[in-house]
Amino acid sequence: MAVILKRGNLPRTPHTEFYGKSGVFSLEEIHGIQGFSGAYSRKMHVRRYPTEQVAPPKKGPMDLTPQPAPRHPLTPYHMLTSKIPYGGDPLSSRTPVIYGPATVISIAKPQRSYAENVFFRNGQMHELYFVQEGQGFLSTEYGRVPFSPGYYAVVPKGTTYRIDCSSGRAWFFIIESIYPIGLAPHYLNVEGQAKLMAPVVETEIEAPIFEPPKDQEGRFWVDVKHGRGETTRLTLGHHPFDLAGWEGALYPYAFDIRNHHGIAREIHTAPPMHQTFQAGQAPFNGFSVCSFVSQMEGWHPKEIPAPYAHYNVDSDEVMFFSNAHYGARKGVVEPGSLTLHPGSLPHSPQGQAAWRSRASRGKMNNRLAVMLDTFFESLAVTASGYRYCDKKYALSWHRAATSASGNGAEMAYGT
Ligand SMILES: [Fe+2]
Repeated sequence: MAVILKRGNLPRTPHTEFYGKSGVFSLEEIHGIQGFSGAYSRKMHVRRYPTEQVAPPKKGPMDLTPQPAPRHPLTPYHMLTSKIPYGGDPLSSRTPVIYGPATVISIAKPQRSYAENVFFRNGQMHELYFVQEGQGFLSTEYGRVPFSPGYYAVVPKGTTYRIDCSSGRAWFFIIESIYPIGLAPHYLNVEGQAKLMAPVVETEIEAPIFEPPKDQEGRFWVDVKHGRGETTRLTLGHHPFDLAGWEGALYPYAFDIRNHHGIAREIHTAPPMHQTFQAGQAPFNGFSVCSFVSQMEGWHPKEIPAPYAHYNVDSDEVMFFSNAHYGARKGVVEPGSLTLHPGSLPHSPQGQAAWRSRASRGKMNNRLAVMLDTFFESLAVTASGYRYCDKKYALSWHRAATSASGNGAEMAYGT
């Protein structure tokens, strides 16, 4: 993130004597990525280092290590995440459903906030939340990050936070990467600013709302995810949100998917036009994340809004359908559908979608979906995720399995 922010009280010159509170010598911490060479933030703790544990670390309450499903023949997957029950808090309800060597995708459907004085820190991976349902705040050491349906929240690896839901329940689609997650670099200029033709505007990110430091003593627990996905519980004797101030380029933020300003073309356009985020160094590793928001279909007099069959051999494609306004997948997907199309297989619109899609030329669609395409990484479904998969999905492209009815004018096609 190129936007460098400064919040709270800070020393005029870094790493010099500073009193964030009258008469209290403050302690400095650097939260950084890529070995002192990537983005970082400087944090000024009021009086204690974050290393001050007051009890030995112990096994955490959760093991988030993806558990593989039995090996299957090569097949596409369609997971009905609407069938996953609500329950627990945002951490205990977190269920890894798809994974690879560098990426984990989870669904969480909590019914309550974190327990009091309990916090989470992902020390293994960077996180990107998409909110399907629910509202509240990610309360973080950097400040509060609001969320509501349709919001993304980007959380750098190592951020200490908790999720406070103001709604009775929530539904999160969570992407994790070992690589940092930022705005799509091909839409940024050399200064790191979003280009004028980009679908995103970096000034529309919602930075954390800074709050005064909590200079409190007591018992505070931080559950840290690490290793392959296990958690360890740390016990601190002080509140972890104790920053007098911070400055830098590494911090959590929110981004409303409706602020992804879709780019249309006279004829069908490929997913990189819809890209919001990227992890890693495309096209060599990591993944891209695209936001399929409402926009006008191609308006060429002979345009076919439905996409082509595509065989993107270096990418596994994951798509979360926030709604089901997708003509190309009509009758197959529902809100909360999560598909995995391995790069080893082509995929395409179903049935007569290409023919029907002509009726939507030049018309606005009402789609909402998030897509992730890996680069040179194969993904697999976990045992937990496989329980919610449509076992006949591979046959859904067969003409006998699909309907040719409807004119498709109200549906979106561009994937
Ligand atoms: Fe696709």
